[in-house]
Amino acid sequence: MVEQNARELLELAQRVARRAAETARRTRTEAIGQVDTKSTATDVVTAADRAVERQIVEELRAVRPGDGFLGEEYGVQEDSAASGVRWVIDPIDGTVNYLYGLPQYAVSIAAEADGEVIAGVVVNAASGEEWHATLGGGAWRGDRRLSGSTQTVLAQALVGTGFAYSAERRAVQGAVVAGLITRVRDIRRFGSAALDLCAAAEGMLDAYYERGLNPWDLAAGGLIAREAGLLVTGLSGKPAGADLALAAPPALHKQLHDQLVELDADSGP
Ligand code: IPD
Ligand code: CA
Ligand code: CA
Ligand code: CA
Repeated sequence: MVEQNARELLELAQRVARRAAETARRTRTEAIGQVDTKSTATDVVTAADRAVERQIVEELRAVRPGDGFLGEEYGVQEDSAASGVRWVIDPIDGTVNYLYGLPQYAVSIAAEADGEVIAGVVVNAASGEEWHATLGGGAWRGDRRLSGSTQTVLAQALVGTGFAYSAERRAVQGAVVAGLITRVRDIRRFGSAALDLCAAAEGMLDAYYERGLNPWDLAAGGLIAREAGLLVTGLSGKPAGADLALAAPPALHKQLHDQLVELDADSGP
């Protein structure tokens, strides 16, 4: 029952996400002429971030009028949804890349049932590549089933991360990266948390971590990484969230977690 529901929600999310990705790509030249900032000067938003979220919500609502929504640009809509289903939406994850035309920005849509993510899709809007997962149904890139890295040695791990928009947080995150760089194979910062999680799900990164993420950054990509066999948690085994999102193979997870805690005085258990 849940399985079938997840499948239906996934297929709807995929159709909507593909059209949203097409809108983002098609309207880019015009949209990047209309740029605002939000929480800080580095936190940019374009006309397309808003228009794409409106399109996604309208299309989902037309098919499933009883559902709730949580999106980056418009926040919560119909939170106490009668159906028990809530859509968690990042209309463009990687807005700075979008602004610059770096082909690493994505539409991320997840469906939660009674608070648990049961289906998620991430579409790279520049390339059309697509990742998806359902709870218990595995993680997929198209029709290829994914499994994450099996790396066990932190010193041989390629680790992705990202930086929040606040200057104070960035200063700490920069210091953590400076400490980590000598303890791992290398570090990557691609600029889209959703695509980072998909890269980890595919083994293109051994692990990924970030502090300060929002639910829409994590919802779909987190399920995809988990369904690919990675352990995805926050601090000290708590659920992944703003404090920490760490996706890593089970054998690497504790090592990386403990290094991050050691390097970041604010993150102690
Ligand atoms: C951002 C991206 C970035 C991550 C930031 C996010 P946005 O999302 O995912 O990679 O480092 O923490 O806020 O604002 O481009 O949707
Ligand atoms: Ca944003
Ligand atoms: Ca985001
Ligand atoms: Ca966004």
